[in-house]
Amino acid sequence: MPNTITMLTGDRPTGPLHLGHHAGSLIERVRMQARDAERFIMIADAQAYTDNIGDTAKVAEAIPTLVADYIAAGIDPLRSTIFLQSAVPELVELMQIFMNITTLARLERNPTVRDEIKQRGFEKSIPAGFACYPIAQAADILGFRATHVPVGTDQLPMIELASETAARINRMAGRDVLAIPQVVLTSTGRLPGIDGKAKASKSLNNAIFLSDDAAEVKRKTMMMFTDPDHIRVSDPGKVEGNVVFSYLDAFDPDKEKVEDLKTRYRKGGLGDVVIKKELVAVLEALLAPMRDRRPDPQASRDVCVDILREGTLAARTRVADVLADVRKALGIFVL
Ligand code: TRP
Repeated sequence: MPNTITMLTGDRPTGPLHLGHHAGSLIERVRMQARDAERFIMIADAQAYTDNIGDTAKVAEAIPTLVADYIAAGIDPLRSTIFLQSAVPELVELMQIFMNITTLARLERNPTVRDEIKQRGFEKSIPAGFACYPIAQAADILGFRATHVPVGTDQLPMIELASETAARINRMAGRDVLAIPQVVLTSTGRLPGIDGKAKASKSLNNAIFLSDDAAEVKRKTMMMFTDPDHIRVSDPGKVEGNVVFSYLDAFDPDKEKVEDLKTRYRKGGLGDVVIKKELVAVLEALLAPMRDRRPDPQASRDVCVDILREGTLAARTRVADVLADVRKALGIFVL
């Protein structure tokens, strides 16, 4: 197997991207573009349908929006192949093979899936497609022989299953048919919501979107959760659990300045409005170039669909090749 770096990652198209996605994985994807590597970015629509089959309109609308968000975030379609999962049927064929070496018990142990089952109220009747999506995700990763997968920490169990699956296939085949993928985590980790809840998300309505305009970014920043006991400017303030500092830590490149602000805030004498204004400036420095890169809304849909179509062609060729190799390695009869 050639000794190259192959990055693959993806997102479910269920809504626009926000700063949590940026901190969790977009930063790494853009960084990867400077490295000598192959890059694939998948819009995981088939995975989105595993818990949104009653709301296909939402998914359909989110697909071109996601492409526009990627471009805004700095993903360059000339350097990263952006493609649509459901338009690569070879991935399903690969999944079908992997289903035979994955036990139900193994699927039931997945902590991320367990959380999702609770959140979605699937306890009494789990759709089979949903239960099996981690196998599909293993196919997404292994079908490209991906070596590097930039994702947030919640995706660790999925990458683990993919690694086990690759190792198992390689053992059965007696040679290295598939690459063992590794996770690329960002140092930032999970970004809290502006309300102080553990996670920024569209459904909790506590996220700043990459597509928010300057007025909206300012409005959301000004209402961020800080330290409820920091009443007067002169009071000592808490930095831990203070969303403004979490965001400064995640997005302000000037770490020394942030440390200085923390010291002054802890001591007392630094007001919330001052640190919030600081953060608005930091977020604008990040988001203003994104607004400039974003495709013109008039032409956006067509531009985005064309990018997807082209990327999907390249993706299909790649997975078809890997699928053929897996079949051969396992001795599967091919007509
Ligand atoms: N499960 C991922 C998420 O919810 C999306 C995804 C699907 C993915 N296939 C992938 C991520 C393959 C990385 C690699 O965000």
